[in-house]
Amino acid sequence: MGYATAVLIALLVYRLGLYLYRYTLHPLAKFPGPRLAAVSSLYQIYYDIIKDGQLTYHLQDLHKKYGPIVRISHNEIHLSPPSAYHEIYRLNTPLIKHHGFYQLFNLSNSSFGTVSNADHRRKRSVLNQSFSRRTIFELEPLVQSKVDRLVQRLEDEYAGVGREVCVHNAYQAVTIDTVSDFSFGISYGVLNNADFRSRAMEAFDKQQEAFLVFKHFPLLARLAGNMPFWLANLLMPDGAGFLEMEQDCRHQIQHLLSPAADTPPAKAGHPTIFNRLLEAYPDPDEKTIDYLAKEGVTVVSAGTHTTRHALCVGTVYALQKPEVGERLLRELREVMPGVRDVASLKELESLPYLTAFMKESLRLSYGVVGPLPRVVPAEGATIAGAFFPGGTVVIMDSYIVHHNEDLFPSSHEFDPTRWLVPNAKELDKYLVSFSAGSRQCLGMNLAWAELYMVFARVFRRFEMELYEHEGEGIKIVEHWLPTVRGEKVRCTLKVREV
Ligand code: HEM
Repeated sequence: MGYATAVLIALLVYRLGLYLYRYTLHPLAKFPGPRLAAVSSLYQIYYDIIKDGQLTYHLQDLHKKYGPIVRISHNEIHLSPPSAYHEIYRLNTPLIKHHGFYQLFNLSNSSFGTVSNADHRRKRSVLNQSFSRRTIFELEPLVQSKVDRLVQRLEDEYAGVGREVCVHNAYQAVTIDTVSDFSFGISYGVLNNADFRSRAMEAFDKQQEAFLVFKHFPLLARLAGNMPFWLANLLMPDGAGFLEMEQDCRHQIQHLLSPAADTPPAKAGHPTIFNRLLEAYPDPDEKTIDYLAKEGVTVVSAGTHTTRHALCVGTVYALQKPEVGERLLRELREVMPGVRDVASLKELESLPYLTAFMKESLRLSYGVVGPLPRVVPAEGATIAGAFFPGGTVVIMDSYIVHHNEDLFPSSHEFDPTRWLVPNAKELDKYLVSFSAGSRQCLGMNLAWAELYMVFARVFRRFEMELYEHEGEGIKIVEHWLPTVRGEKVRCTLKVREV
């Protein structure tokens, strides 16, 4: 027997032994699930890559077959009981983010990518103030000014002239400009771009397409993330917009550090996240500047994609379901009698139907639709009544909670009234688009404010019609974030007469 054959046979025997161990003696062997999933990553690769982002949806079927706890890889458990969500994602949880998974984003240093709960607490405490409810109210005029620009352009360039607008891009423009101005004191100016296009977000969306390949082949993610800027630009010209955003953040930080500079905060008129970060890290070295830039990129990308999608989902359903659109308009007229009136955030928050409509838009846009994997600490943990040994990766997602038929009957139906029935307040706990606990979304107050203001102003001013839109709602696949399949949402619009 040749040397190569011997090595091959040894490898084969090792693999078979490993599969046998995973299937029979592994501490998770007692949990039900597909056999192939328990022993090999091929199972997930099939649903993630070959079937393009279908794993999250397939998990629903697995729970129907195997029950509330399903083993989906040799060391991963997926759970379905909504109550388990708040056992995993809660304040002061000993479970930590899964390093292997979160390093795929190449944002390891940011509060989002930080695994250790203690490190995260420290980083997050610096940022919290910038996104508190109080700050949102203080900076309400800033958000209103972005929405002003949006509705003005829609009126001037699209309404009544028969030119359809890409709503997806328009919402992207208002969200990216808001979050960048809010966070850095500098707007990216996408609201002024032709067709509301953003190079950075187009690059982000392109990267998102590769996410599931990176998930199963993490070496590729590391290569892509650590390429020098010039090489990335050469190999992936479409992806360069996103890297430019990081470069831009670095320049802003360096600008702030230079004492002679006419600093952006002077123009901003409010403390930016970089001001706060530099107060916390007064003498940054190169490594710290890297970290600060990653925080900047995280905030903009996390704040744009999710809010944009929630706005698109709400818009499509409001236009497809006349009873929803009409009720919304009736309520908006109470605080905005004229088509060009502006209501304050406080007034909008007091509108029950608009609030219910937004909750339903958040429910069916999911936030992050894919897994939020967490690792059980060394001493193990009991979740949903089952004990999991240290090192087990436990996973839930908003999709499994938002489509729990006991909580949300006919869960695929867009029905804002489900949030208005007696005891509906108890449902709030299960709206987990922003996740929950200490790793909950940093920008949720800003996101709510944007949704209130954009929906109110757009629906009050314009009569809209979907343009060449197929099917109910928006067709998405799971690339961790929801990725739209088919045409992006487009509308024709005209200014209302009353
Ligand atoms: C509808 C809008 C939004 C939704 C549904 C949403 C959803 C989420 C979710 C589910 C997470 C947790 C991710 C995880 O555990 O891995 C998260 C984290 C985060 N979000 Fe949002 N988000 C939204 C808007 C925003 C906005 C406007 C900002 C910025 C201003 C933002 C900034 C962040 C940041 C920085 C994190 C990481 C937080 C941390 O780990 O400390 N998000 N978001």
